[in-house]
Amino acid sequence: MTVSITNYIENIPTDITVRESLDFKLDSTIPKYWFDNDPVKTRMLEAVCATFPEGEKYFIQSVRNFREKIQSPRLKEEVRQFIRQESQHGIVHTQFNDLLRQQGLPINQVEEALKKKLAFNQSKLSPEMNLAITAACEHLTAIFVECFFRNHETMAGVQDVRVLAMLAWHSIEEMEHKSVAYDVMQYVARVSYLKRAGAMLFLTADMTRELIVNTNAFLKADGFSFPKRMKLLARGLHWGFNRKGILAPMAKTWLEYFQPDFHPCHAPHIAQYSTWLDVFALTYDPIQAGEAFHRAAKK
Ligand SMILES: [Fe+2]
Ligand SMILES: [Fe+2]
Repeated sequence: MTVSITNYIENIPTDITVRESLDFKLDSTIPKYWFDNDPVKTRMLEAVCATFPEGEKYFIQSVRNFREKIQSPRLKEEVRQFIRQESQHGIVHTQFNDLLRQQGLPINQVEEALKKKLAFNQSKLSPEMNLAITAACEHLTAIFVECFFRNHETMAGVQDVRVLAMLAWHSIEEMEHKSVAYDVMQYVARVSYLKRAGAMLFLTADMTRELIVNTNAFLKADGFSFPKRMKLLARGLHWGFNRKGILAPMAKTWLEYFQPDFHPCHAPHIAQYSTWLDVFALTYDPIQAGEAFHRAAKK
């Protein structure tokens, strides 16, 4: 039996749920170095978080460029939910960025540089390439959930439950909408394999560069000298990228993206996803849901 592309999309089950106005109670009482009291671990994660508000706008725009061409009602609805989820992420991470700005971190500089780069991408690259970069980034953000929350130990050093909960919520929602940009890319924009694979290589290199540049800028703002920063960065990169590092679970899933028949929905959701949903349904409190989600991770 032949299954048409349209039917295939229509039949994929969706878990996307839009949750609005969540309150993570983010304020200046969050410890400066909330991860293990460690400057480089904290600033590395914040270097990634700092890019989210501008990044989410770029993802939304890249998918919106193809919105009118989508014929599948299911995919249209998923795109609508994707945009709403990403908008919420942008709102919460803007609040978090404001706190980092209050600590003296050069958030404006990071945001301005990123804004310029993404505007350049939108004006100079084809809509297909922008969508391919977005789909690649969506794959990376979707698999962060496994990196951070598969094992309890990974996030055990996070000393502030509000930050932990914000990361848990963002991670599970990225997991929920992991197929959306990809499906638009494959079935609406019909992006070639080479472009899809090339975009992932480009994005991975660019994100790594951005991580190093932003972490260095944050540590500089904290007053660390150049030699001290180099030592901290070397330790941080080892923590992230060594064979058992925090990002190690990404290696296999990153490579899977290069398989010609890859689809994001082939990977199951993280084991304790239902714990987050259950606690949130009972309490409507993303902080309790995030704590329970972390508690339920593999020990
Ligand atoms: Fe997001
Ligand atoms: Fe996303």
